[in-house]
Amino acid sequence: MTDQEILEALKRVKDRDLDKSIVDTGGVREIKNKNGNLSLKIALARTGTSEQMQVQQEIVNVLKSEGAASVGLRFDTLTDEEIQSLGGAKEEPFKGPALLAPDSKTTFITVASGKGGVGKSTVTVNTAVALARIGKKVGIIDADIYGFSVPDMMGIEERPKVVDKRIYPVERFGVKVISMGFFVEDNAPVIWRGPMLGKMINQFFSECEWGELDYLVLDLPPGTGDVALDLHSMLPDSKELLVTTPHATAAFVAARAGAMAIKTNHEMLGVVENMAYFESQTTGEKEYVFGQGGGPRLAEELKTDLLAQIPLGQPVVDENDFAPSIYGEDHPIGEIYQELAKAIAFKVER
Ligand SMILES: Nc1ncnc2c1ncn2[C@@H]1O[C@H](COP(=O)(O)OP(=O)(O)OP(=O)(O)O)[C@@H](O)[C@H]1O
Ligand SMILES: [Mg+2]
Repeated sequence: MTDQEILEALKRVKDRDLDKSIVDTGGVREIKNKNGNLSLKIALARTGTSEQMQVQQEIVNVLKSEGAASVGLRFDTLTDEEIQSLGGAKEEPFKGPALLAPDSKTTFITVASGKGGVGKSTVTVNTAVALARIGKKVGIIDADIYGFSVPDMMGIEERPKVVDKRIYPVERFGVKVISMGFFVEDNAPVIWRGPMLGKMINQFFSECEWGELDYLVLDLPPGTGDVALDLHSMLPDSKELLVTTPHATAAFVAARAGAMAIKTNHEMLGVVENMAYFESQTTGEKEYVFGQGGGPRLAEELKTDLLAQIPLGQPVVDENDFAPSIYGEDHPIGEIYQELAKAIAFKVER
C-alpha cells in the first residue's frame, strides 16, 4: 500500500466532532508502513470518548479491507487553533442531570464561610425561606457533611420519600430540603464522609425530584478544604454568598474562601455580615459585640456587595410549629432576610 492509498481509505473515516474526514481535518499526523504493518498517529477534536472508539474501529476496518496486515494506532488531539479554523467542534450533548444542564433555569447559591460557627446554616435556611416568601421556587442542599444541621434548624422530622428509586425532598416553609443528615448514619465516622460527599451530591442532583427551581441554596462545609473545592468544580455555575462576623479575623479568613470561589470561576453574589450588632430592646442602642467593620471590609476586598447586616437575636419559638432557627416574616430579623432575598433576586434576575 502506498501512503496515497492509505489516505484515500482514511477519507472514509469521519471525526465525529467536526463532521469532516480525518484526512480533511489534518488529523493524520504520521504514517509508518513496514510491509503492510501500519502504524498511524491520528489527531481528533476530542479523545477519550465513545466516538473515539468507533473511529478507532473504523480505521482498522478500512485499512484491513485495503490489505493492511496490521494497524497500530496512537491518538492525539487537534490543537484549539486547528479546531477553530475547522469551524469549531460540535457542542457535546449534555448527559447529566437537568438541573446542571447549561440551559438550566436554576441559580445555585453556595453559602460559604472561612470558619465555622459564624451562622452559615442560619443564613442558608433563612435566605431560602425568605426567597420562598417572595414567591421563588427554592430548594436547599445541606452539604455540610461534618455538621448537617438544616433539618433540626427548620424543625424537619420526616424523611424524604423514595418512590420508584426517585428521592422526594422534604418540603418545609415552601422550601424543598435535602440533607446529608437524611442519609448518613448518625455515628458514621466523620473520616468516611469526605469521599462520600461528591457521590452523594451527584445523587442529590440526579436522583432527586426537585421539580422546577429558581434557586438551589447549598450549605457548604466550612473553610477552603477539598470538599468545598470539589463542590465548586461540580457546579458549573454558582454564585457565592459569603458569611462572616464583623470581627476582623473572621473577615480575613472569609476572604480566603472568597478568593477560592473567584479562582474557580464562581461569581461572588455578596457578603452577609452576621451577628453584626446587638440592639437593646429598651434603648434601641446598638452594641457591636463582635467588633465592627468585617463585613464592609470583606465586600470591598472582594469587590462585591455587602447584602445584609444581621443583628444578634433569636427567632420567636412557636410550640405548634417548631423550627428553632427560622425567623418569622414579621420578626425584625425576618424582615432583614426578606430584604436580603429581594437584593439577591434583583442581582440575579436583572
Ligand atoms: N444572628 C444571630 N443571632 C443569634 N444567634 C445566631 C445568629 N446567627 C447564628 N446564631 C447561632 O449561632 C450558632 C451558629 O450558627 P450556625 O449553626 O448557623 O453557624 P454555622 O456557620 O453553620 O456553624 P457550623 O460551622 O457549625 O456549621 C447557632 O447556635 C445559631 O443559632
Ligand atoms: Mg452549619
